[in-house]
Amino acid sequence: MHILSTEQLTPEILKTIFDRTDEIVELLGNEESARSMATRHAGQAVCTLFYESSTRTRLSFERAADALGVGVISTENAAEFSSASKGETIEDTARVLDQYHLGAIIMRHPVTGMVSRAAAVCENTTIINAGDGKGEHPTQSLLDARTIYQRFGRLDNLKVVMGGDLANGRTVKSLAKLLANYDGNEFVFVSTPEFQMTKDILDYLKDKNIKYSLTDDMHEAFKKAEVVYWVRLQRERISKIVKPDLNFVIDQESMLALPEEAIVMHPLPRVGEIDPAIDSDERAWYFRQAQNGLYVRAALLDLILDKEI
Ligand code: NCD
Repeated sequence: MHILSTEQLTPEILKTIFDRTDEIVELLGNEESARSMATRHAGQAVCTLFYESSTRTRLSFERAADALGVGVISTENAAEFSSASKGETIEDTARVLDQYHLGAIIMRHPVTGMVSRAAAVCENTTIINAGDGKGEHPTQSLLDARTIYQRFGRLDNLKVVMGGDLANGRTVKSLAKLLANYDGNEFVFVSTPEFQMTKDILDYLKDKNIKYSLTDDMHEAFKKAEVVYWVRLQRERISKIVKPDLNFVIDQESMLALPEEAIVMHPLPRVGEIDPAIDSDERAWYFRQAQNGLYVRAALLDLILDKEI
């Protein structure tokens, strides 16, 4: 099974991944068990094929592979350093890598749909979508869900406020879809009309009877929030000549409106939309969230290499 969309991450699969995540967290926490885990998949390898910049996604996957004893072959800037720069198609690149006895190819691409095109020609290797254009980022939604579960002990009946550049962000779309599998969740999308959540996702939520509303009033939205999920302006996905008017900054003042039990999440990188002054607030969970990326990705790789999913 290729991991291309959050739609594949059913509650049942999520449970399998989270159970394995629990095991991995425990094993990594102890030097001796961490050492024995590091030979678990000796002789197996994965490829990280990134056509777009990344810090957390690529490095957490590579660290996860390392923790499991999985070899990694990598091109950190495939657009420049792979044969894509000579004009090779994504299908040809994928077909070749598919013959290298790899357990998985972890792939990111700036164009929506390119990861699926690569998956369509891979017969031997699992393709993991590590973010495709404005489309999806399923492994980010895994770590986001893990973080929410860690805080609330549930993934249902949550009041979720998502804000920022929702139109061009993929993490918010994947997480909204994932949470739509659980009853009673309610979304408030905070943005300007230009950067609001896209119709495909709103229709998806409607189909699943999930309540949502759209607003540009972040302070009002914060008052009843349990999960606040903020994203940056996706500068690289919009025209350079446009000067976007998007200014939803979480600062100490906005935190005053937020209930005590709420958490603030962000997939990172942040570029001004969360004031570092709130990092020490107990409700700021974004760095803990990033750490979960290592754990869920290790669990996912372990399950894929064991052919359990
Ligand atoms: C996100 C992405 O690449 O979509 N980053 C990440 O994977 N943590 C969010 C972003 O780049 O804004």
